[in-house]
Amino acid sequence: MRLNAYLARAGVASRRKSDELIKAGRVTVNGEPGQLNTFVGADDRVEVDGKPVAKQRLAYLLLHKPAGVVTTARDPQGRPTVVDLVAHESPVVPVGRLDADTTGALLLTNDGELAHRLAHPRYGVEKVYEADVEGRPTEEALQLLCEGVDLDDGRTAPAEAGLLGPSRVELMLHEGRKHQVKRMLEAVGHPVTRLHRSRYAGLALEGLRNLPRGRGPGRSGPGPGRSSPSPAAP
Ligand code: URA
Repeated sequence: MRLNAYLARAGVASRRKSDELIKAGRVTVNGEPGQLNTFVGADDRVEVDGKPVAKQRLAYLLLHKPAGVVTTARDPQGRPTVVDLVAHESPVVPVGRLDADTTGALLLTNDGELAHRLAHPRYGVEKVYEADVEGRPTEEALQLLCEGVDLDDGRTAPAEAGLLGPSRVELMLHEGRKHQVKRMLEAVGHPVTRLHRSRYAGLALEGLRNLPRGRGPGRSGPGPGRSSPSPAAP
């Protein structure tokens, strides 16, 4: 990995600040001055100001995010953050975002490469949401969600949608625009009253402590499992 990423992962400084340390000649790799384009492997010896940089272990945390917690490292309004909540020894950051009032699966890691890959639209990582909505979505509304909805930042990509109850929609997306689920459901006439992410990148919440989110028993199982709408559950 690049030297700045290595330093950031080791908790020395952010990538940008690490670049400054490198440019200032304060970083050596195997005794030689590091450069901005230096790549570092597991066996390399990295020092800053002559002091060895301890390797940081990679950490991956799956959080069942409760409502009322923001998905940032710091909140100007002083609300609790997901980073406060996990209070991990490594500087883990959330991969992507959930709105403050959204509950569910959120991955936090200090593995910058994985985080970048998971968040990159090119990889179309799967996200499954359960949304309580106003009204009772019809087959037509579900079909629209599947085929693509015109939003102010463009048409949404094909998705999978089904009903978990008369006013509960399960939606599987492969993109992650801001407030996307709420905007899609609003666009088809069913504003979201409560939103939960049950799965992210194949990671489900089973086995994690179920922080209260005030909803009835959810369905277990592999997700929508269909690409076309289905009738309401009995
Ligand atoms: N879509 C939303 O509208 N909100 C979220 O928190 C996640 C996806």
